[in-house]
Amino acid sequence: PTIHRRDYQAFPYLLPRTQLFFDLDAERTRVHAILEFERVGDAALPLVLNGEQLTLESLLLNGQALTTNDYQLTTETLTLNPDSARFTLEITAFCGPQANTALMGLYVSGNSLFTQCEAEGFRRITWFPDRPDVMSRYTVTLRADKSRYPVLLSNGNLAGTRDLPDGRHEAVWEDPFPKPSYLFALVAGTFDCRETTVQTRSGRSALLQIYSDPGTRPKTAWALECLKRSVAWDETRFGLELDLDRFMIVAARDFNMGAMENKGLNVFNSSYILADPDSATDASYEAIESVIGHEYFHNWTGNRVTCRDWFQLSLKEGLTVFRDQEFSADMMAHGLGPHEAASARAVKRIDDVAMLRVAQFPEDAGPMAHPIRPESYQEIGNFYTATIYEKGAEVIRMMHTLLGEETFQAGIQEYFRRHDGQAVTCDDFVNAMESAWQARQPERNLKVFRHWYEQAGTPLVQVHLNYDAAQQRCTITLSQSNPPVGIERQQQGLHKPALHIPVAIGMLDKQGQTLAVPGADSTTGTVMLELTQTEQSWVFEHVPTAPVLSLLRGFSAPVRIAYEQADAELALLASHDTDPFARWEAGQALAARQLLLLAAQHDAAQPAADITLLKHTWQTLIADASLTPAYLARVLSLPPEKIVMADMLPMNPAAVAQARLQLRQQLGEQLAQEWLHIYHAHQHADAGAYSPDAVSAGRRALKNLALSYLAAAQHPQALTLAQTQYEQSDNLTDRMAGLAALMQWKDPSPGQAALTGFYDSWQGDPLIVDRWFALQASSPATQVQDVRRLMQHPAFTLRTPNRARAVVFQFCQNNLLNVHNPQGYAFWAEQVVTLDAINPEIAARLARAFDNWAQYAPDLRDAVRQALESIRDHAPLSKNVAEIVNKALQL
Ligand code: ARG
Ligand code: ZN
Repeated sequence: PTIHRRDYQAFPYLLPRTQLFFDLDAERTRVHAILEFERVGDAALPLVLNGEQLTLESLLLNGQALTTNDYQLTTETLTLNPDSARFTLEITAFCGPQANTALMGLYVSGNSLFTQCEAEGFRRITWFPDRPDVMSRYTVTLRADKSRYPVLLSNGNLAGTRDLPDGRHEAVWEDPFPKPSYLFALVAGTFDCRETTVQTRSGRSALLQIYSDPGTRPKTAWALECLKRSVAWDETRFGLELDLDRFMIVAARDFNMGAMENKGLNVFNSSYILADPDSATDASYEAIESVIGHEYFHNWTGNRVTCRDWFQLSLKEGLTVFRDQEFSADMMAHGLGPHEAASARAVKRIDDVAMLRVAQFPEDAGPMAHPIRPESYQEIGNFYTATIYEKGAEVIRMMHTLLGEETFQAGIQEYFRRHDGQAVTCDDFVNAMESAWQARQPERNLKVFRHWYEQAGTPLVQVHLNYDAAQQRCTITLSQSNPPVGIERQQQGLHKPALHIPVAIGMLDKQGQTLAVPGADSTTGTVMLELTQTEQSWVFEHVPTAPVLSLLRGFSAPVRIAYEQADAELALLASHDTDPFARWEAGQALAARQLLLLAAQHDAAQPAADITLLKHTWQTLIADASLTPAYLARVLSLPPEKIVMADMLPMNPAAVAQARLQLRQQLGEQLAQEWLHIYHAHQHADAGAYSPDAVSAGRRALKNLALSYLAAAQHPQALTLAQTQYEQSDNLTDRMAGLAALMQWKDPSPGQAALTGFYDSWQGDPLIVDRWFALQASSPATQVQDVRRLMQHPAFTLRTPNRARAVVFQFCQNNLLNVHNPQGYAFWAEQVVTLDAINPEIAARLARAFDNWAQYAPDLRDAVRQALESIRDHAPLSKNVAEIVNKALQL
């Protein structure tokens, strides 16, 4: 059953008030709902409520008990035909949190109760119009055993608490803001709490609280700091103030995704809350900051203004990712001088773009390809994708680029002026932006730009350069194409119009000096070309010499560039480009070429490729004192396999993984002196105690990169360095890097010994144990039989998504060397089926591990097809997995 965007119909009833009464119990929770409806639509339309996995006890209409003749009940709906325009419906039903392994609706994690309602989880709590355009004011009464569940939380303000007979107690919560059901939340259990009070811009005071498992309070200081910074940043950069007296975050060990922005009561995967130097890496500190920011920023972009329907998901997600990216960039640049600040921002941009290319570009080229505003879906849980989130953020970023910060912020103000309190569409957002733009520049519009919302696929921009030496004239021609992908290929007569693509470029001479181009920014030499047609040319006069082109600076659009550029030009750009993103890009392109050559030789057994140019380029970069350690760490990292593979047809993932190991070893050997020098220069990233700030983290990243090259090369000093670092460091980043280096050693015994010791020391902390599993599951030494053995470990379980991700996903998604064979694929299919019976949403994610299988080499393709067919033939399959597998097999 496919749902189409064009079929949207408003709900024929309003629901101004919702009262919920919970008698909480892990086995069997009773939910009593009092719903006050008002008909606004056609009287002939019935009232259809969503409800799943519920047991009905009683149903009252205006106080009168209904009998089975008065309503129709299916496994997914409850239908009534009320004869009055205003009526009160009272529903009493039961649900079973303990048996809820899908983790949607009300479920148990540890000894506590949590909810996850987005997108369609509320219908597992009571029958309800479970759609985002039905907004209601909630009053929630929670009752539970006081000793088991001393803390009882829901959205909004605490209106009262009291003790009840039999050791039970009650809390009443009132949310002053009307909200859709997906933003409902409740939490009950025993928690530590860390809190603070902040003054908001208008002088109101608000209580900020972080709840976490008993004993984990020492690990929530960073999270609370991040929350405070988020509150302040949204005021200063976006002019958006906290609208609540109380903002709570609760950490849950079992959670399907990263976190959830329930109004006033965010629920987080504990991996995005808990941090101390022994249990969180630099990357986790950074991720915590970004996810806390993300969920907090949803309070305006998502909650105050929400989505009309789930096709508009990117309205809140793309915009909120853009906001969290900017937040992180501002935090990283904070307190630095201009050069360092620019470098810090470039590092953030590089990391975000790398993630887009690893996760979103392949999605956009495979069976699940969809526009950032999809036209159809079978299961909305499958559409929390890199396209909706990351490409959605790139589309917002392009608007920011075109309009500029000031006009963009005016557009944001206009958006809230028009739509505060409403459930709206992506078009509404673009309209608000366009009106702000036209108020300043009447001749501009977003007419062509809007097509970004309609088409899937990564556009290809071809670049053609013509230099006329006699006239000193340079002509640049850009052309765009975006052939049908995924289900677009089944649409007959599909026309994909040209997009509005901002392409930032610069020109360098053969010595690497910036060429002054008319119309360019005077400091960076950047010119913005706005491509809005299939093909356009730009003519630049007075260009004294044939330029070397620096293209798509700052990654100004989510496209691929096709332009023939010699290795020597890439090396020149890598050494001299003034745009730090483009400079990094050139170095990566050079390394990617090397990897593709090596991967091709893998089959042909040819002599080792010559890496002289790459080596010299890297030496120049290492010697460039103007580069910050964090930036250099990105520049000297080899591109991820999944990015390199995009330029390989047919794809041979294991060959690319092998090539990457090989090149790392070669660079480790040939630059050993440089690596040793870097290692020692940054060995002590902090003067005193560990600090997760971006500058110290950058030094650790660079030092640990050097260590990994030395270990790859089996350098005589590497073993001691790794061992010492592993044993003596005071933080998890360095300890894990030491351990990973030991695991690269040809002789497996030091790595094995360290792994055993690591588990013994840290087995009490589930997040550290996840890392211990993940390190092994993704190791080149881990074959299918080894990962099966890992799953026999007493600490392994498929029921906790974090643990399943640490082992099964790490192996299937990230162990490219060892999963791409018939046994690997069979293992994968088996795990998808097993997980599907436990948690369909997680199973469907795993089912996407080989999305790009149609581009694999023929023997691999046959093996993936067989594995996919074995999943498809398994019954019953969840809607989630069925959609993924059927789409994968249709291509
Ligand atoms: N809105 C949440 C976020 O991006 C994601 C929730 C998705 N949940 C789910 N079960 N699919 O912050
Ligand atoms: Zn979000």
